[in-house]
Amino acid sequence: MKHRIAIFASGNGSNFEAIVNAVERGELDCEVALCVCDKPGAYVLERAANHKVPTLVFKAKDYPSKRDFEKMIADRLDSLKVELVCLAGYMRIIGDELLSRYGGRIINIHPALLPAFPGAHAIRDAFEYGVKVYGVTIHHVNEEVDGGRIIRQAAVPYDGDDIDEVEALIHQTEHRLFPEAIKDYFKSK
Ligand code: GRF
Repeated sequence: MKHRIAIFASGNGSNFEAIVNAVERGELDCEVALCVCDKPGAYVLERAANHKVPTLVFKAKDYPSKRDFEKMIADRLDSLKVELVCLAGYMRIIGDELLSRYGGRIINIHPALLPAFPGAHAIRDAFEYGVKVYGVTIHHVNEEVDGGRIIRQAAVPYDGDDIDEVEALIHQTEHRLFPEAIKDYFKSK
């Protein structure tokens, strides 16, 4: 039986689409059961519609607390029997409710070689530092931000001075690495 995954994203969704494409090409034995998005109008929702992936869209401020919207999300994940949550540019820190119900079953993509350059501006931080080897990390999510066990990493060598160029190279690597890491995750089960 196909593994059921959910993908969380807040914006553009190019990683969302890379995973869906890998599924559609038969490279991943998965079904994308749900796209969770906290930004109504985000481009990822158009991508989800194009690929006929169901969506759950919410605004955090419509809920009294993070626990409340995470409970709503976890209930939906439960009802869809989701086995793995993939954070693909979801710009929120996962809270106790999701961690307690989906702990060990949440992975995240980060555009740097962790533990270097954690946080929300990793590419810019690495660029401003002047690194020559950038990278991508896929890791398990725990209570420590960008701190869980690493599943896969890839280096992205770049010695130029154009941040758009390095960003494009990092994204290309992300799109290859995320499907590979999902495969690794299920292989290790
Ligand atoms: C990616 O660079 C990812 O590493 C980071 O957010 C970005 C999302 O890009 N967490 P996209 O929305 O998948 O295009």
